[in-house]
Amino acid sequence: MPTAPREYFVNANRSAISQHDRALLGMPAAQDVSAERAALGDAPPTSLLGLSRLKDLVAVGEVRLKDESDRFGLGSFKALGGSYAVVMMLRTLISADLCRPVTVDDLIRDPVVRSAAASKTITCASAGNHGLSVVAGAKKFGAQSVVWLSNDVPDTFAVRLERLGAVVRRAGSDYRESEEAARSAARVHGWHLLADSSWAGYTRWPLEVMRGYTTLAVEAAAQWERSNVSRPSHVFVQAGVGGLAASVAAYLRDRWGEDFCFVVVEPVRAACLLASAKVGEPTRVEGGLTDLGRLDCPDPSLLAFEQLGHLADVFMTITDDDAAAAATFLKPEISLSACGAAGAAGLMVSASDPELAHATALDSSSRVLLIGTERAL
Ligand SMILES: Cc1ncc(COP(=O)(O)O)c(C=O)c1O
Repeated sequence: MPTAPREYFVNANRSAISQHDRALLGMPAAQDVSAERAALGDAPPTSLLGLSRLKDLVAVGEVRLKDESDRFGLGSFKALGGSYAVVMMLRTLISADLCRPVTVDDLIRDPVVRSAAASKTITCASAGNHGLSVVAGAKKFGAQSVVWLSNDVPDTFAVRLERLGAVVRRAGSDYRESEEAARSAARVHGWHLLADSSWAGYTRWPLEVMRGYTTLAVEAAAQWERSNVSRPSHVFVQAGVGGLAASVAAYLRDRWGEDFCFVVVEPVRAACLLASAKVGEPTRVEGGLTDLGRLDCPDPSLLAFEQLGHLADVFMTITDDDAAAAATFLKPEISLSACGAAGAAGLMVSASDPELAHATALDSSSRVLLIGTERAL
């Protein structure tokens, strides 16, 4: 298949963060997540790396990358989302069963609560990483998990999921088909669906997944602020359904305001957020094969689009080759997959294209924050 051309779109519907956005994913919501994590005893922060070679290559003032390549030993930022949503889901379900509040501590120690957790089955579709996070969360509290993978998800993910204790099922040729299989299995078996995407009538658990991601934005903001460099002027974040980009955008807009340029980076063959931004509503794209498997999502998450549709400044696409080149360039500093380096690819493409550099107001004084979302596979 010939490579589709890159494109970009300057958001015509940009507006400031609202109280509603804040309530969903702003600083108070992120603080609640941090409190739950403290009760869980979750692992220490990941690093914010200074990337001086990339800074010189793209001729800007500063580039720093939040390194999520080994979050909780699971290999991607997704470790933050699904596992957190499992906690919130189990607390809610078991509270309803036992007619009393259930805390994180109860989930860890109370035998009655643990036995109730063991009777729950949580199911999800995954391109790999969301499943690993859900299964790790379910395992921690003794719940069961069933993960649906489309046939194009590498076997290495199936093996890792099974090692963690999941039942793995294959369904369909793309993410959408595996998602339909997970939804139908949840209906038929009375399992609990924990998707990382959201749609009309299904937003509660994906919101918790997205809240889980805010942890990396909280850490990155604090790490950046501790340095003597002014706050970022640019943030480039790669997107599949948009959950990560939306939670980072909402949290950082709440913390840092409206002045920095937020850029959403998608593969040319799965640019559902760019297409949605153009028409002003969630829009499905036809897509096609891409090497950027975890970003290969034809439908945006409804919640994510509600945030990014007005909080992002620019939507842009990159090719598979752009992402591979970024991963190769970054190798001396950090070993990322092409998906993991896709935000960096967005920066590299923007810097090399005068029109895009102008659209994103990128220049030699720019200070750029990136997220390395996944280790090399
Ligand atoms: C490594 C990696 N990067 C980025 C993303 C994009 O996240 P989202 O689908 O929330 O936009 C994913 C999604 O699975 C991923 O696995």
